[in-house]
Amino acid sequence: MLQLVTTTNNFFAHGFYNKDIGVSVKGATKSTTRANKLLLSNGGDNRSTPITTMESKAQTAKELFGKYFDETRSTEEEVIPVTTAIAVAPGRVNLIGEHTDYTGGFVLPFAIDYSTVVYGQGSVKVSADGNGESKAKISFASALFPDSLKTFEITESSTPSETPDWTSYVVGTVFQYLQDLPKGSEIGLKFCITSDVPQGSGLSSSASLEVAVGRFVETVLGEYAFASDRKQEDFFPPKVRALRCQKAENEWCNSPCGIMDQAISSAATNGSLMLIDCRALEFKVTEMAKESLMLEDPMPVIVVANSNIKHSIGGGEYPIRVAQCKSATDALKKVNPDIVTLRDATMEDVENAKEYMTEVEYNRATHVITENDRTIQAKEELEQGDWKRVGELMNDSHASMRDNYEVSCKEVDILVDIAQNFPGVYGSRLTGGGFGGCTVTLVAEDSAEELMAHIKSEYKEKTGIDCPYFVTRPTRGAHLLSVKDFKPIVG
Ligand code: GLA
Repeated sequence: MLQLVTTTNNFFAHGFYNKDIGVSVKGATKSTTRANKLLLSNGGDNRSTPITTMESKAQTAKELFGKYFDETRSTEEEVIPVTTAIAVAPGRVNLIGEHTDYTGGFVLPFAIDYSTVVYGQGSVKVSADGNGESKAKISFASALFPDSLKTFEITESSTPSETPDWTSYVVGTVFQYLQDLPKGSEIGLKFCITSDVPQGSGLSSSASLEVAVGRFVETVLGEYAFASDRKQEDFFPPKVRALRCQKAENEWCNSPCGIMDQAISSAATNGSLMLIDCRALEFKVTEMAKESLMLEDPMPVIVVANSNIKHSIGGGEYPIRVAQCKSATDALKKVNPDIVTLRDATMEDVENAKEYMTEVEYNRATHVITENDRTIQAKEELEQGDWKRVGELMNDSHASMRDNYEVSCKEVDILVDIAQNFPGVYGSRLTGGGFGGCTVTLVAEDSAEELMAHIKSEYKEKTGIDCPYFVTRPTRGAHLLSVKDFKPIVG
């Protein structure tokens, strides 16, 4: 029987996330179906346990709500219906396809059990005359900060703060929904937030916050949500939500991120990875084969290890990479005017445009173009069960991120190296924005426990830093929980 054991690791060492728990697997034996259960089941006894259960996250947010908000209502308020809702949105791990989303490329992420939960109440006061700007009155607090109750009033003409902080992710997201309100109307929102997605570890804590807030606001808006988007032929709420949350992060948080994190947090399917075409914003559900292509290759599990080096995509190197991709594209346009983004270019185009590029631009373009190919291939190999080939693609991806895109760092390289050289490992690479954060490793299930013990001791010996780790599996994207029993609401 596969058993999950918690170990005390300093996984949440950064920022305001300071719970100290990791998860490892004990008693794993070789089996084709077991590994798939661990990775792909809809629940069941073999799935990796979330660090904090969904129920306890919802309970924490509810208790905080009781602490901060008085639920007695004024006579005026009593005539307006109030919605109480609990919204959840997960963090993510990207298996492959890194730094390709903001040039319209391909990514292959999945949602994980770590998530942000929003518990709250809200109401819509519809304007009688339908004139004037729509507005929002927002009060919220986070379980992650003591005494963090914040209150904002925004209208359609509000502008982002010049010094964004964690509240900007929340306010920026609510702002995106003002367009849904009838003219002159007002939405009132009171809510509390909790999360166990480790911050700054490349597991998408920001997107999970935005998407959870977005899902909550939609529930309060009810019939008004996505009013004008509903007319579009391919209307798909998770897609529109992802775009709005990305816009919130780009415009309100000073972070030029791509669409991957918001897209997977919003639209993930339980048990599957998603190949996302970031230009068309098309989602292709990708299920790992239930049996290995080669009989001698044991079924794999996915292990995530945290370098404990904090990354941040708002400042520094990330925007520089975005700009370098733009200038590489400008050079490519000189040889092929049909190229709109790096997604359109081939390596042949890059060679032809070499004389118009700096060495750095050449390397950046090389990474993006080869990474798009690797990502599309990885989807096929995963579906075939060719774990060795998937592993090679992951290893190549890491090498390209390290050498061509230069988004790795010494500690992450050490972590990847330790994993890649361990027996039973198919492949290992940096996941997420880089400059620290986590690695993702595809490893034979019966080698996973030893690998994790090995990573822990070797990494500590080589860097002096603790390395939290966990086995993970794809889980579902944004959804609601029942306010009665905190169980997921399906549909
Ligand atoms: C961060 C960004 C994503 C993506 C990755 C790198 O997570 O938020 O949009 O660019 O980095 O693949």
